[in-house]
Amino acid sequence: MSSKFPEHFLWGGAVAANQVEGAYLSDGKGLSTSDLQPQGIFGALTPRVAGDSGIKDVAIDFYHRYPQDVALFAEMGFKCLRTSIAWARIFPQGDEEVPNEAGLAFYDRLFDEMAKYGIQPLITLSHYEMPYGLAQKYGGWASRKTIGFFERYARTVFERYKHKVKYWLTFNEINMSLHAPFTGVGLPEDSSKSEIYQAIHHQLVASAKAVKACHEIVPGGQIGNMLLGGILYPLTCKPEDLLETQRQNRDWLFFGDVQARGAYPAYMRRFFRENDIQVEITHADQQALRETVDFISFSYYMSGCVTTDKAQNNTERANILNMVPNPHLASSEWGWQIDPIGLRYLLNVLYDRYQKPLFIVENGLGAKDRLEADGSINDDYRINYLNDHLVQVGEAIDDGVEVMGYTSWGPIDLVSASKAEMSKRYGFIYVDRDDAGNGSLERRRKKSFYWYRDVIRSNGNSL
Ligand code: BG6
Repeated sequence: MSSKFPEHFLWGGAVAANQVEGAYLSDGKGLSTSDLQPQGIFGALTPRVAGDSGIKDVAIDFYHRYPQDVALFAEMGFKCLRTSIAWARIFPQGDEEVPNEAGLAFYDRLFDEMAKYGIQPLITLSHYEMPYGLAQKYGGWASRKTIGFFERYARTVFERYKHKVKYWLTFNEINMSLHAPFTGVGLPEDSSKSEIYQAIHHQLVASAKAVKACHEIVPGGQIGNMLLGGILYPLTCKPEDLLETQRQNRDWLFFGDVQARGAYPAYMRRFFRENDIQVEITHADQQALRETVDFISFSYYMSGCVTTDKAQNNTERANILNMVPNPHLASSEWGWQIDPIGLRYLLNVLYDRYQKPLFIVENGLGAKDRLEADGSINDDYRINYLNDHLVQVGEAIDDGVEVMGYTSWGPIDLVSASKAEMSKRYGFIYVDRDDAGNGSLERRRKKSFYWYRDVIRSNGNSL
């Protein structure tokens, strides 16, 4: 049987520097905004003292153990590994003129290791972190100066890795700033809407400048944006619900519209006016924004509903979005609603809207795993989740959607972003570490490891 998945489909997994690397002050790295959030991306800012705990300080020690981990990814047949560069390893305070050579050398070693197995790196420039120095000194993305610091960083890594890395992403889940301003744009949580949208605007300009720099510097390079694909459905077919759903979907599609179409969408004018939001957008900014991404990437974990009926508006915090639960769907242990068909729907929505290739760069199930007495981990729930979602990716490809690849979230257990937990596991590879930081950090193949290896080997035919 021929596969629905294209021949060169990029199968793999996705991680992020601050959730796996550890070594949070090694080799000249500066503190990042993530280091100030030991309780996760919604947690309070905590001043750091060198040597104190925080689960992310060691994380899964990928900084030292990457050769073993990359070998395990290769054993599953990965074609691609998504990770991020910790900006504060390259520019420890963010505003230096000269990069930190030891930080650059680490990623050389990592990319060389991946090249040994023919694994393509897909590299996020900023995954929920920036040098803390920029937040402290400049108010993060509140300052226009941060655009220049980011551009310098982007140009530095494009030059350095232009023969090693072909696929790039600018900002992870760029729409997240609306829900976690410190994580997204380095602003205090109580910032006004105008302040948040101004910082977002600076980040969008910086993203476009990175796209331009990538096109100039990296031969054959391709660069995408990265959206949190929190697709929303109307709870009922009441026209008011439908309209409100469209409005709320535009809250996140706005980012994709700017990054893929090169200008602010018309609907934002009314949104800014009705919410009394003032944003300074210069002519030079408008010119810069015209440089659009080559492909659209996104994360997908769940869908949610919208209602205008106040009595039913019992929203739960699920991932980042206050979504109304869908009565037709089951939930994960963390209350994230499981909706494989939603992934097919979302792929079609994005392809209809942008007509650009799509890359699913995060999808997965966070669950508690049980280590059996014989050392096995039988994670059938994870296999079922991923299998059901991948079947829908195949359907979307059959619908005509151009999908470049699929990198499941957390192919190896890592520290969760929302609450900095180890017990919320996503991996095909188990890591011996608990929420308190106890454990040997030893790696172990789960049942899903062999399942994913077969999926990749058969190019999706085993689904
Ligand atoms: C996405 C992030 O929001 O979801 C990842 O890009 C994150 O960094 C993932 O880990 C899953 O969320 P959590 O909170 O379960 O780790």
